[in-house]
Amino acid sequence: MNQIPDVLYGDQDLTTWLIVGASRGIGLEFVRQLLARGERIIATVREPWASHASGLWGQAGSDHGRCQMYVCDILSEDSIVQFVAQLTTLRNFKIDYVVINAGVLRYPNRATEFSFEEFAFHLHTNTIGPIITAQKLLQTNIPVGTIVFMSSDSGSHGNFREMEDGFAAYAASKSALNMAIRHMAAELKRKDDDTIILAMHPGEVATDMANINLTWQVEGIITPEQSVVNMLEVIQSKGIQHSGTFWTWEGKPYVW
Ligand SMILES: NC(=O)c1ccc[n+]([C@@H]2O[C@H](COP(=O)([O-])OP(=O)(O)OC[C@H]3O[C@@H](n4cnc5c(N)ncnc54)[C@H](OP(=O)(O)O)[C@@H]3O)[C@@H](O)[C@H]2O)c1
Repeated sequence: MNQIPDVLYGDQDLTTWLIVGASRGIGLEFVRQLLARGERIIATVREPWASHASGLWGQAGSDHGRCQMYVCDILSEDSIVQFVAQLTTLRNFKIDYVVINAGVLRYPNRATEFSFEEFAFHLHTNTIGPIITAQKLLQTNIPVGTIVFMSSDSGSHGNFREMEDGFAAYAASKSALNMAIRHMAAELKRKDDDTIILAMHPGEVATDMANINLTWQVEGIITPEQSVVNMLEVIQSKGIQHSGTFWTWEGKPYVW
């Protein structure tokens, strides 16, 4: 599966993206749009033979050389370490943009009701897995331009969304992610490391995650295509001065 074609080595001047959690939804849409733009993509999935993941190859069409699929389950440190180790074997490899998109929402998850396991599951997937994935990448010699974490407006303290009944574990996990992102950016600045760290809210996007019966009205639902077109522009507009900041898909700064 992971035969590395020459195109993935650093001799060519293509922009390289790593999309973690690319099997469906927003992650898959990143791959689709980046392929259409002629960029080079490393896409991770949990199960390459799952029907939704094989859709990735359908999107890649006959041009598999620019899109390589790897396995990475961010609930497993071993899986993260093995995936990153595979990247370190690529010659002259650099990554311009990393999008750590993988996330879960098991609805409902109320603080007055959820189990220890349910809360831990959200924290492991939405907070610990993304941060450890970024940390392991940063600990290699691979040059990394920007790391984007897919956060959520649900994780904002400053704009607490009181109406989001059933979102307590999810919101807490994104909020904890946000705090770890800010510390990661501050630590890198102290180390004079130029990797840019960003948090993004993708909008209220019509994906499997959003396909639930909520007790409140969700305003302004957008398609994955709209979300990703905009996020690509926002991500590519940010420099080192923006490291440690939080943005919406519309390019507005968001309150932590
Ligand atoms: N949709 C929205 O309105 C919305 C709003 C705010 C924030 N977000 C955030 O945006 C991101 C993408 O959401 P989405 O709407 O595209 O959701 P989605 O359609 O449910 O897709 C979630 C993706 O995350 C992957 N994933 C889940 N657990 C994983 C794990 N342990 N290891 C690796 N990959 C894992 C899934 O892979 P499998 O196919 O293997 O399950 C899938 O590719 C999430 O972080 C979400 O919290 C979404």
